Amino acid sequence: DDEPQKDFERKDVKDIPVEGKLPELQSVVDWVNEVAALTQPDKIRYCDGSDAEWDELVDLLVKSGTAIKLNEEKMPNSIYCKSDPDDVARVEDQTFICSKNEADAGPTNNWMHPDEMKGIMNGLFDGAMRGRTMYVIPFCMGPLDSEDSKFGVEITDSAYVVLSMKIMARMGQAALDEMTKRNAPFVPCLHSVGYPLEPGQKDVPWPCNEIKYIVHFPEERAIWSYGSGYGGNALLGKKCYALRIASVMGRDEGWMAEHMLILKLTSPEGKAYHLAAAFPSACGKTNLAMLDPTISGWKVETLGDDIAWIRIGKDGRMYATNPENGFFGVAPGTGAATNPNAMRTIEKGNSIFTNVAVTDHGGVWWEGMTAVKPPHLTDWKGRSWTPEEGPEGGRANEKAAHPNSRFCTPIEQCPILSEDFNNPEGVPLDIIIFGGRRENTIPLVTQARDWNHGVYMGATCSSETTAAAKGAVGVLRRDPMAMLPFIGYHVGDYLQHWVDMGNKTTEDKLPKIFYTNWFRKGADGKFVWPGFGDNSRVLKWMIDRLEGKAEGQETPVGIVPAAGELDVEGLDMTPEAVEECTRYVAHEWADELPRLESWLESFGSKLPPSISAELDKVREGVKK
Ligand code: GTP
Ligand code: SPV
Ligand code: MN
Repeated sequence: DDEPQKDFERKDVKDIPVEGKLPELQSVVDWVNEVAALTQPDKIRYCDGSDAEWDELVDLLVKSGTAIKLNEEKMPNSIYCKSDPDDVARVEDQTFICSKNEADAGPTNNWMHPDEMKGIMNGLFDGAMRGRTMYVIPFCMGPLDSEDSKFGVEITDSAYVVLSMKIMARMGQAALDEMTKRNAPFVPCLHSVGYPLEPGQKDVPWPCNEIKYIVHFPEERAIWSYGSGYGGNALLGKKCYALRIASVMGRDEGWMAEHMLILKLTSPEGKAYHLAAAFPSACGKTNLAMLDPTISGWKVETLGDDIAWIRIGKDGRMYATNPENGFFGVAPGTGAATNPNAMRTIEKGNSIFTNVAVTDHGGVWWEGMTAVKPPHLTDWKGRSWTPEEGPEGGRANEKAAHPNSRFCTPIEQCPILSEDFNNPEGVPLDIIIFGGRRENTIPLVTQARDWNHGVYMGATCSSETTAAAKGAVGVLRRDPMAMLPFIGYHVGDYLQHWVDMGNKTTEDKLPKIFYTNWFRKGADGKFVWPGFGDNSRVLKWMIDRLEGKAEGQETPVGIVPAAGELDVEGLDMTPEAVEECTRYVAHEWADELPRLESWLESFGSKLPPSISAELDKVREGVKK
């Protein structure tokens, strides 16, 4: 209480000018006014999501130096932004789950008591929007006409966030109208870049704050985010809502919010299957979602590249919907050779590029986009860059694009978007895949014996860390169901929820579970498996397993392809290399076992008994 009052003149909310159409829902207006009283913006703007609003905010960002317009011919209606070099990825160590009891957040989340956190956050938000416009963004996660969709309202002082939300979510007037019609509850999502402007103070191109907090109140279903303007820290419909808060909603309401792509696969016989796959950040979801098969007769259509909400339908099968409306994809590594469908999506424009490099002709570039590097670029820090010298004043091997640079693009532009994308029922899942980035131990593909074994596999998922989150890259960590940074409650309860979901229906109706690893390395340090479009060969084996066309080979950790079962026709790979990436290597698993044990034992009494039983089976097999 003895905090000094911040030294600025406080405005009465009724004196703050309001732009845009006032919502009919009093609950929205009341919350907006409460936040305005605290944050003290110069102006309140209710966003409608129109193209006129897009144009106006693009102009504003160009004027403020945050964005440049890209060449209309190369990339129509698109902008480029470079962030502050310290605001380039999710900040996991500043992300909190503030449940009332610490035990409910579990051992894998940062926790603080909600009252204590609100004390801190109220202090930070006090006057945080001075000199800025406070934007109000109503949004809907999921198809507008789906009963299962969920609503939110994001308040932000960043026009970049407004534009990104227009791409990533169904937002604006249409979402508000639907919310009003249903008188639906909404998750309040409060965001500030934490950079108020004193009278006369000039803005910076990428305002943010050294102090960052990404905070979730699971019981209240509320999100408060401060200090960052980038990605999952700031676009609150994405990881904060559709995973962390939604995972809690799913636990309470009997469904699941998962970090998964969704795709439709059609076989040469014309039979359609739906797959969902959970890989950790920057481990291949967007790429698999838009896979261009290298084996003839197979077809992939995209439904989502990052998040799936999964419910059990009336027929007892699991149905998945993508709550998002756009792609926020890793740029580096995306090119015509690896992900042609992503390139075709992007080239239609209407996109925001952040921290990539720009060409001298107002186009974008990143490592892996083209085999031949452009002769000259402006790098993600704004420096002159050449392939030979790297950036001016930097090291020759410095990349032109930041490894977590991203494209933000409307999903409707994807040429292989499934016609079921807006289906309010979602699509029935035949297969769930877990995966990760491991240079050894984990075979290319392993099938679980049944649902509970699959849940065990998901629980023990592991991956080498990537640039998608701040911190060291390449460090091995467990990442259960690729949800480690996104579970809004206790990880043990989350795993039990997976077991319980399986018990709601019968084994024959449940998706079959597989585990993949595209990232095994050979003695030369290179990836053994070609990956990308050739991953269709692995999907084909999965379908062969479902259809009883492949026997597989039993190992202590699951079923792997028997010799000759994987279609490698036309691949430039020796039989030894195929064997190297698909086999079970006993000594590697003997090394892995203690890591599996200590991970699962760390849950104590919260470890679901069925997972403990699966560990026993694996232990027995590996030790034999
Ligand atoms: P987030 O958006 O952070 O959740 O990442 P993501 O899971 O969507 O990963 P994405 O598909 O963007 O791929 C991340 C990186 O891995 C990119 O640089 C890709 O080029 C690379 N990658 C994706 N699939 C493969 C693959 O099959 N093999 C190899 N070697 N690399 C891959
Ligand atoms: C991830 O890190 O998993 C992303 C990027 O998809 S972000 O939206 O920043 O979370
Ligand atoms: Mn992605």
